[in-house]
Amino acid sequence: MSASFENSRVIIAGGSSGIGLATAALLTAEKAHVTITGRTAGRLQEAAKAVPVAATAVVDGNDRSALDQFFAAQNSIDHLVIALSGAKGAGMFKDLSLDDLRAGFEGKFWPQLQTLQAALPYMRPGGSVTMITAISAISKSPGTAGLAAINGAIELMVPGLAKELQPLRINAVSPGVVDTPWWDFLPADAKADTFNAYAAQLPTGKVAAATDIAEAVLFLMHNSNTTGTILRCDGGFSL
Ligand SMILES: NC(=O)c1ccc[n+]([C@@H]2O[C@H](COP(=O)([O-])OP(=O)(O)OC[C@H]3O[C@@H](n4cnc5c(N)ncnc54)[C@H](OP(=O)(O)O)[C@@H]3O)[C@@H](O)[C@H]2O)c1
Repeated sequence: MSASFENSRVIIAGGSSGIGLATAALLTAEKAHVTITGRTAGRLQEAAKAVPVAATAVVDGNDRSALDQFFAAQNSIDHLVIALSGAKGAGMFKDLSLDDLRAGFEGKFWPQLQTLQAALPYMRPGGSVTMITAISAISKSPGTAGLAAINGAIELMVPGLAKELQPLRINAVSPGVVDTPWWDFLPADAKADTFNAYAAQLPTGKVAAATDIAEAVLFLMHNSNTTGTILRCDGGFSL
């Protein structure tokens, strides 16, 4: 795979943290021209200190005019990675606030789709789009029915989009549990306990690092024979 991304133009939506930033790190090491986006200027600046990306841009995936303006300013894009999300929509269904679930869709489903739609006119035919979903789409774990709705909805769209938008390739990576700032809503102790509990039940015996997922993203970007695929990179969570 080495050097195949040299000079390729990559946009990572939600690239200032976690899986998006880890993907940016692998790609800059391969000399790709990477632009990362997010909503928070300070977070993007911190990310750019850690990873020498070509550019950063404050763009909210929920703001269509900002997306249109951003993509219109890009030259042809070879690869788009859509890693953004909020963290709402989890909880046992009997107690789940549907406003919270709506916020979950607003935080992930709509901005992912809107980012893709806004980018389409600028994507190179034969390039790739990789969305990040989540194992909750199929895990059937109590408390994740709402997340299943959000992530499952994206996953169901991927194969149809791959046919409709060919020769652009559309794929998704579905992670299990990944050690990223996404979990920072938990106090440090609770986060450590949660990760230990997951590690004990996963066949791989560990919670994933963001780089584990980034490697799966690079595979989908690189492999010109793969489209319409949901690549589960979940440590065996779904077994
Ligand atoms: N971590 C896990 O265990 C896990 C497991 C399964 C699936 N996933 C999925 O993996 C993807 C990446 O998660 P992560 O763990 O890397 O999360 P993260 O560390 O919280 O990073 C999320 C990134 O998305 C950006 N973002 C959020 N909302 C945005 C919006 N509306 N427009 C533009 N950028 C936005 C954030 O920056 P700003 O907040 O500054 O905008 C940040 O750069 C998500 O789709 C998540 O659902 C994660």
